Amino acid sequence: MNKITTKPVIFITGGTGYIGGTFLQLMLMRDYLNRFTISALVRRRDDAQRMRQLGIEPVIGTLDDLEIIRRESAKADIVFNTANCDHRESAIAIIQGLTKHSKETGKRPILIHTSGAGVLSDNSKGIGVAPEDDPTATIWDDTDFEAHTSIPMHAPHRFVDLEIFAAAKTGLVKTYLVVPPTVFGQGLGHFAEQRMSIQVPRLVYHSLMQRRAMYVGKGENQWTNVHVVDLAELYLLILDAALKDAAPEGLQGFYYPANEYFTWSAVAHRIAQVLHAKQLLATPVATTGLQSGWFWGSNVRMKCSNGVQLGWRPKNGGTQKMLADVEWDTTLMLRMLSMHK
Ligand SMILES: NC(=O)c1ccc[n+]([C@@H]2O[C@H](COP(=O)([O-])OP(=O)(O)OC[C@H]3O[C@@H](n4cnc5c(N)ncnc54)[C@H](OP(=O)(O)O)[C@@H]3O)[C@@H](O)[C@H]2O)c1
Repeated sequence: MNKITTKPVIFITGGTGYIGGTFLQLMLMRDYLNRFTISALVRRRDDAQRMRQLGIEPVIGTLDDLEIIRRESAKADIVFNTANCDHRESAIAIIQGLTKHSKETGKRPILIHTSGAGVLSDNSKGIGVAPEDDPTATIWDDTDFEAHTSIPMHAPHRFVDLEIFAAAKTGLVKTYLVVPPTVFGQGLGHFAEQRMSIQVPRLVYHSLMQRRAMYVGKGENQWTNVHVVDLAELYLLILDAALKDAAPEGLQGFYYPANEYFTWSAVAHRIAQVLHAKQLLATPVATTGLQSGWFWGSNVRMKCSNGVQLGWRPKNGGTQKMLADVEWDTTLMLRMLSMHK
């Protein structure tokens, strides 16, 4: 007699995005569809059709369709939330769905939630000072869960992360918080390969608008980078380990995907070079004058000890590659701007 086995269900938000799309593509390349049923929230009908062609079940809706998100999360054994780390209501709906799943099945479902490294930005007020000149700047290590849990409420993304911690405390859901820094590089697959990241492309945009590439203060502040494919690899490692209860979880389940550190003045100078070569800026040199704030002016240096423990090794390049890829960021930005002419 044939034994009927049902595959665990993965539900992903943000599966058409830069991070989520790359991660989804990696799952397809590694035959995860043989092991899992995958469903993805999409907000466009043509994306739904493409998902279907790939063997992924589309769920049409937005992050504001809380009933849909609750329902799909309740059906799922695993949820990857990669859509918007500042959308608290959808995070709560996911947790409510997973909690229902847990109560009905007696099994603890998995939530892998994407936050952002702005939550680790220091107290320099984002004025571009070097870490050594900022007594509050530190190198964050994801094994130091006490340091992470004592981050103040007002830190970026924190108001959503606190919901994930509250879910962890119930013991009904296994939670894992991934905290990406500056993600760079070309994404993978149909959905992600033409999508932009956030911080560097937005600085390209800012430079075009201001006709000048700029950094904050002296631009000596440092951030951490990770290639999008390396980030996607970490998600898979966390998933595989979480299924075996072999990954730190809950109030110890932090993952800081970190490769190398860089200064924001180096990025601004590279943008100046690239835009000058395209005759879009008058000078190939960046100057001070960028608006202050955590986004481009703070220090965020971190280590991925928990990831390394799971076997994670970034292989797709660090700062040198990120600076080379400013060419790609610029191509995507110029393409997007020309679409809106
Ligand atoms: N990229 C980075 O460097 C970085 C670093 C740290 C943290 N993060 C965080 O990670 C998350 C994803 O970043 P990303 O770079 O992958 O962004 P992205 O390329 O803009 O992708 C966002 C994804 O979420 C979906 N989405 C957004 N709002 C939605 C809504 N209201 N309803 C349904 N779907 C929605 C998008 O769908 P559509 O395809 O329909 O637009 C897309 O699939 C963000 O919260 C971001 O802040 C990113």
